[in-house]
Parts: sequence; C-alpha cells; structure tokens
Amino acid sequence: MTTLEIVLIAVCMLLALVLAFSLKHLAHYRLRLRHDALVFKWPIPQANPEYITSRLEEGPYGAKLEAEINIIPAYQSYASLNELETVVLANLAKDSSRVFELGTASGRTTYIMASNMKSDGHVTTITLSREQALAYAAEGSDASTDSEHAIEESRFETFLYSGTPMENRITQLFGDSKQFDASGHEEAFDLIFVDGSHAYSYVKHDSLMCRSMLAPGGVMVWHDYRGKREVPGVYQCLNELHAEGWDMRHIRGTSFVVWRKEA
Ligand SMILES: C[S@@+](CC[C@H](N)C(=O)[O-])C[C@H]1O[C@@H](n2cnc3c(N)ncnc32)[C@H](O)[C@@H]1O
Repeated sequence: MTTLEIVLIAVCMLLALVLAFSLKHLAHYRLRLRHDALVFKWPIPQANPEYITSRLEEGPYGAKLEAEINIIPAYQSYASLNELETVVLANLAKDSSRVFELGTASGRTTYIMASNMKSDGHVTTITLSREQALAYAAEGSDASTDSEHAIEESRFETFLYSGTPMENRITQLFGDSKQFDASGHEEAFDLIFVDGSHAYSYVKHDSLMCRSMLAPGGVMVWHDYRGKREVPGVYQCLNELHAEGWDMRHIRGTSFVVWRKEA
C-alpha cells in the first residue's frame, strides 16, 4: 500500500467519523424537542378556534358561511401567519371596528384584517423601520435570537396594502413599541394583535401596554407561542402572565394565544 493510499483511507475514516458524530447530535436534538413537547405540558391550556370566535363553530354543513373571509395565501409569505391563524384572525377582524397591530412586517396581515372588517373599520399598525432599529432597546432578560430576528425583520418601508383601496382603512406608524405613547388610546381597540419584537422585555411591555388599550370585551392575540426553544421570549412572558391570572388559551393548530378582557 502506497503512502497516498494510506492518507486517503485515513481521510475517509475521519470524514465518516465526523458524519456519524453530526448525525448522532442531530437525532439527539430532535428527540429533545419531541421530549419537551410530550413530557412538559405547556402551561397555557389549549382550546379550539371556536373558543374565541363563534363564526368558526361547526354548522350543519361543516364550516359556516359566516366564516367566509378574504385571504392572501400564507404560501410565499414572509414572517407571517399560517392558514388557520389567518382564518382565526380574519374572523375576529370581521367583528371588530378598531384594530391595533404591533409589528407590520410585509403588511399581509394588516391587509387581511382591513379587508375583512366592515367598511368603517380601521387598523392602526406600528412597526420598526430599518433606521429606527438603532432605537431598539434589548434588555438582559432577552434572548439574543429574539432580538436579532426583530431587527432583521425591520426592513419594510412600503407594504402589501400600499396603493390599494385598503390603505385608507389603515394608519401606519413607525417607531419602537417601548417608545409608543399609549395615553389617549385607553380602551380604544376591540382587537389587538401583538406580533412585534418577540424578545421577553418587549412582549412584556407590549402586553401590559395593550391591556390598557383594549376595550372591555375586546380580544388580544399573540403570535408565536412556540415553546421555550423556538421563541423563548414569547413563551416565558405569556406563561408568566397566565400564572398571574390572565385567563388565556392556546388555540389548537396555531401558535396563537388569546385573551378576552372582561366586559
Ligand atoms: C413577526 S413580524 C410581524 C409579522 C406581521 N404581523 C404579519 O403577520 O405578517 C415582526 C415585526 O415587528 C417589527 N418590530 C420588531 N421590533 C419592534 C419594536 N421594538 N417596535 C415595533 N415594531 C417592531 C418588525 O419590524 C417586524 O415588522
């Protein structure tokens, strides 16, 4: 056997070892994720979508005509809602006249909510622009991944609804949600969608601020309750609020958590 052949065999054996090592770790990581979901029950109890909107109750033919909505597919959409989440939020929007959204991104959800509301309905939405990302105020309690995503998603200056007839049903605000002046918006909204920064300190700030902005009987919806590994800030904050007595539900088949303010 030549020296070259010996070196080649050694390199192949080394590569095989590296591959086996990586596969073993990948399998272990997937097992851990499954284990978490199976063994540790998430604290917020689950409910079906009809818990929060009777439009989604089953009728004699299955889904009811009153659940009919305008929709833009989730397919090809960026950082947005899945189909069932879209159906739930659009149906809630049908029964709302004043909506507040934290985190506009592409404006897909903003457009969908506006186009499903009655013609006198209005959506106010706030987002961070690329320049304002400098004002982003992460705190020690925030996971760096959550903060990185928030800044990375802050890149839209115009939106899916721009130039459409929906535009005059929408007020677009730019700014950091921690700087938003909520005075003057007390109990002003009947639906609030919290989907801005997913970092713990922001979810906490945004939730407490939106509680005072929500009208009695109004509904608050949070996106991305996905467990402690995927979106830690949302998971930790919502679990804490639930432990403090907010009577929330995690909607089955979605990453939505919902809460209705007492009427
Ligand atoms: C997950 S995306 C929102 C997706 C959108 N709601 C949808 O359904 O298509 C998060 C958005 O929150 C915005 N954002 C992040 N941090 C923010 C902050 N501190 N204040 C306001 N908006 C923020 C980002 O610019 C981004 O547009």
